[in-house]
Amino acid sequence: MLRNAALASVGLGLIGTNANAAENGANLLDTLLAGTEPKAQSMIGVPFEKHEKIRIAIIGTGNRGRSVLHEFLNQPEVQITAVCDVVQEKADKAKAMVEKAGQKAPAVYVSGDHGFEQLVKRDDIDFVYIATPWEWHVPQVLAAMNAGKHVGTEVPAAYTLEDCWKIVDTSERTRRHCMLMENCCYDYHELLVLNMVRQGALGELIHGACAYNHDLRGELFERKDEGLWRRHHHTLRDSNLYPTHGLGPVANYMNVNRGDKFDYLVSMSSGHWGLEEYRKANLSADDERQKEFYKTGDYNTSLIKTSKGKSIMLQHSVSSPHPYDRINFIQGTKAIFRDYPPRIYFDGQTGGEKWQDPANLKDKYEHDLWRREGEAARKLGGHGGMDYIMAYRLVQCMRDGLVPDIDVYDAAAWSAPGPLSEISVAKGSAPIKFPDFTRGRWSEARTSVP
Ligand SMILES: NC(=O)c1ccc[n+]([C@@H]2O[C@H](COP(=O)([O-])OP(=O)(O)OC[C@H]3O[C@@H](n4cnc5c(N)ncnc54)[C@H](O)[C@@H]3O)[C@@H](O)[C@H]2O)c1
Repeated sequence: MLRNAALASVGLGLIGTNANAAENGANLLDTLLAGTEPKAQSMIGVPFEKHEKIRIAIIGTGNRGRSVLHEFLNQPEVQITAVCDVVQEKADKAKAMVEKAGQKAPAVYVSGDHGFEQLVKRDDIDFVYIATPWEWHVPQVLAAMNAGKHVGTEVPAAYTLEDCWKIVDTSERTRRHCMLMENCCYDYHELLVLNMVRQGALGELIHGACAYNHDLRGELFERKDEGLWRRHHHTLRDSNLYPTHGLGPVANYMNVNRGDKFDYLVSMSSGHWGLEEYRKANLSADDERQKEFYKTGDYNTSLIKTSKGKSIMLQHSVSSPHPYDRINFIQGTKAIFRDYPPRIYFDGQTGGEKWQDPANLKDKYEHDLWRREGEAARKLGGHGGMDYIMAYRLVQCMRDGLVPDIDVYDAAAWSAPGPLSEISVAKGSAPIKFPDFTRGRWSEARTSVP
């Protein structure tokens, strides 16, 4: 199921073992960092056309695909017209969910890894949602846009710079949106803080910190679901494999691609002991997975500098004991917010230097999406309601003909720390410039999450 392993990593391809390879690699890196020539107009600020009904097809009906399907089925304007998986049982489960919700049975595509190529040709699809293993995101995103469909992909959108540029180029050429389905941008505290930032309550932003710290050792060794593909990526790259859950919200606080941009990154990985120890303790001695070699460090830590001078610490840790934590920290000149658990401190506040409970700020700063939809989101939605809000907002944008909150430029920029951290780690934590996927339009103020 893995795509060509040689393509799996730009970073590795760049670190050549002979002079020619090194030179070719360096030239390729220069090209990818500088950017490709625009072949069409920008997708910045381009609204969706208005839809009365939003016809959605889903590629990948595993855990995440069915969970987001549930969110779509909660939205009255959505009709699910087709589903696709490589496993019949998973596609059938999704089909049964659609029928149970009172909709017509969707068309089912189960014909191997390339079954999606048939699905995207249908003429009753407005938006394709992709929730497949990482190596399939880009081929499926490109196929959907080339067939004239808007697309939303699970995270990360891509894990090579070449693929980041491909999604940008293809979106511009086909005039179709490629949205990153970054649900964490719609979580309660992320939107509360975004509201506070926009109202000036934190002052000038200085520094952010964010992460995906989630103990996945059990899942990575399961004989099902993500265990079938995700652990393999730990054998391919030493990098931040999953940057967007933490970074997306901080990019929104800092107006990245909308007034600022990621300028460069330095990255360092720890050694890797977590998966080795876990399998030794939990797998039989003759299990073939005992022979796997893991490249991904247990902790990858990157520092990003933005063009306007702000700094961000970005971490990835999925192979050591750690209660779930995206950090979600933002420091301004007037206040500081830190999550897990959520707390805030305002400069000069009465009561002195003590964290406050942000629940006290609900009346003043709760985001409108949560004020209006919070009750339904908490009752019906996954991940504490943020998945409901994400689906609600996508439907609102497509129904009313609005510009998507998270566009292809965000999908590329927020995914880029994957390959950039790999290159930096391999070069002894050297600084690596971010490509400017907006092609110079990053400084324009424009809409994002409302
Ligand atoms: N945003 C979130 O909160 C969140 C949470 C979990 C997972 N994810 C992302 O969702 C994606 C899927 O993760 P998951 O947990 O559902 O994994 P999963 O293994 O449960 O599901 C993946 C599904 O894709 C199917 N598949 C594999 N190759 C395919 C192909 N070529 N065409 C069609 N279907 C194919 C598999 O059979 C499986 O049903 C990943 O990108 C993951 O990072 C996001």
